[in-house]
Amino acid sequence: MADELVEKAREVLSNAHVPYSEYRVGAALRTVDGTVFVGCNIENANYSNSLHAEEVAVAEAVKNGYREFDRIAVTSGVRDGVTPCGMCRQTLSEFCDEPFVVVCDEGGERTSEYTLGELLPNTISEGTLSDAERSADR
Ligand code: THU
Ligand code: ZN
Repeated sequence: MADELVEKAREVLSNAHVPYSEYRVGAALRTVDGTVFVGCNIENANYSNSLHAEEVAVAEAVKNGYREFDRIAVTSGVRDGVTPCGMCRQTLSEFCDEPFVVVCDEGGERTSEYTLGELLPNTISEGTLSDAERSADR
């Protein structure tokens, strides 16, 4: 049996709305207390309106009052070593302190694991903005 979080990400794949790319993505995000929120990609005829699975999972969790996470699993219908895109890495970094683990489904029971810091070093954070505010006075 695959990683429990990967299984939950796989379960939501069937809800993906992907008439344009036909590329299904599922995500399962775990809070520090063990609650899991899932998301799938939701495409739009205006392509840039499309929602990514990871951001849907983050939105679902945050709207329910959860903001601390320790792990996310990501999967795609074609099992090709999906990883969160740059935008989703930044979205996750808003709420996920290290060590936050990203589990990528490689098919069957195989996974690749990364920390968010490995995937997105030197992230833009709240601190970056306050530094910018200070430098505006220079
Ligand atoms: N996609 C995600 O859901 N998450 C990512 O981080 C990578 C890309 C979706 C967006 C689009 O619906 C499809 O995959 C093809 O890019
Ligand atoms: Zn993304």
